[in-house]
Amino acid sequence: MSADEQQHPTRRPTGRDRRRLARSIGLLIAAAVVVAVGTAWWSSLRPDTYSAMAMGVADPGGGAVVVGPTDHGHGGHHSATATDVTTLVADPDRAADVRVELVARAERVTLPGGEQVDAFTLNGATPGPEIRARQGELVEVLLRNESVGRGTTLHWHGVDVPAAMDGVAGVTQDAVPPGGTFTYRFVAEDAGTYWYHAHQVSHAQVRGGLFGAIVIEPTAPGAHDLDVVAQLHTYPGTSRTIDGTAGDVVRDAQAGALARVRVVNTDSVPTVMWVTGAAFRLLAIDGTDVHEPTEVDGRKVAIAAGGRVDLEVRIPAAGARVQAPGVSLALGAADAPAAAAPEHVLDPLAYGSPAPLAFDPAQPDRTFAYDIGRLPGFLNGRPGIWWTINGRMGGDVPMYMVSEGDVVTMRLTNASGDVHPMHLHGHHVVVLARNGVPASGSPWWVDSLDVDHGETYDVAFVADNPGVWMDHCHNLPHAVEGLMTHVMYEGVTTPFLLGGGSGNEPE
Ligand code: C2O
Ligand code: CU
Repeated sequence: MSADEQQHPTRRPTGRDRRRLARSIGLLIAAAVVVAVGTAWWSSLRPDTYSAMAMGVADPGGGAVVVGPTDHGHGGHHSATATDVTTLVADPDRAADVRVELVARAERVTLPGGEQVDAFTLNGATPGPEIRARQGELVEVLLRNESVGRGTTLHWHGVDVPAAMDGVAGVTQDAVPPGGTFTYRFVAEDAGTYWYHAHQVSHAQVRGGLFGAIVIEPTAPGAHDLDVVAQLHTYPGTSRTIDGTAGDVVRDAQAGALARVRVVNTDSVPTVMWVTGAAFRLLAIDGTDVHEPTEVDGRKVAIAAGGRVDLEVRIPAAGARVQAPGVSLALGAADAPAAAAPEHVLDPLAYGSPAPLAFDPAQPDRTFAYDIGRLPGFLNGRPGIWWTINGRMGGDVPMYMVSEGDVVTMRLTNASGDVHPMHLHGHHVVVLARNGVPASGSPWWVDSLDVDHGETYDVAFVADNPGVWMDHCHNLPHAVEGLMTHVMYEGVTTPFLLGGGSGNEPE
């Protein structure tokens, strides 16, 4: 500061003044930031317990504006047509055709392949028992939780069960505490390959082994001499396994036999699989038959997390090998040929031949956007960089509102920097286009769809199964990180609660 400046009677701002002013402005900005961040933090906090019906912002998708139960507050009066989700069940008077009891435990077990893990088991094993039913049969599963401390449930991944049987803790039931039971009953409507898994603290319980396969066989017996399931799974501390066995698994098969191999990806990341030693046909994706599947050679097949593919292989004299990174299933000969993965991936968008759909996706009643992104912010008070849906996170995400009978289209986009296997409960969606390129093969029906960074998928479905249905990423830790919302039918309500005080933690 100069002497001249100090002596001036009407002071011009001095360097010190300017610094003071800058400091004050800085403090004001800092205070504003603190208030803004504090508000963001505060508004991200969820109550101790809350309803799924209030964990988002109703999005009517351009359809009739649904007067949702949230508009009345819970416990309030609902419209005359209100349906409690617990009433959406299979015919209670119908006797079961297939009866299974599953006892869930947290325990240290020896996997089928010999490794010891601290696991979650069903009837003392992981994977749990394979359930087989014939199409049209009523399946009844009694779940008994013996020792899974935080409680557990069973969700029937890909089986379009009545909503009360969906097994989502806090949405369709309460988590079954140790000592508790829950009975699941549903008609096995659609033949195909599915799986069941815990939907309470699922990121830990599924990884820890609380899952198994469920196969619904067609009414007419299949043409296959051999019909096997291969569940890909990585337990904490193990390398990848097939049905609990790391490395190579061998199955006897006669030369010339026709095998159906049902590959289930139970891990949270996508995988590829391929067949060495024989050509194959891709019979089904996510439980739905491909229309007129042609023979495939020299291509690998991608499977989303939670997804399934059914392959048909004619066993050659030297055997054939179904391979995925780190594991393989040798069919017919322990020394069946092995090879590295083919370079090219089979594209389901153009595989098989077209067939008419039973509805017209060009005339939708509802149209939704499911834009996946990633932003810094607060998720229930925790600072982080979280997944977003349509730019929102946590309790602010869109809830997709539908009415029974609606034709629904949804555009999924992903600008989040990671791949997300998107899974809608209770429905299958048909892929209309990827990145604007229309599907040209068989109708490609999925319940678990990998949406990679930069990709756009247009899908459609018919809202034909009333309920409150999770629509989330099946990279289960991503669901914990906020990539989870739901499709909600007009007038359907749930009495169950989420949140720390409820004991229900579906993710
Ligand atoms: Cu396989 Cu919501 O889950
Ligand atoms: Cu994800």
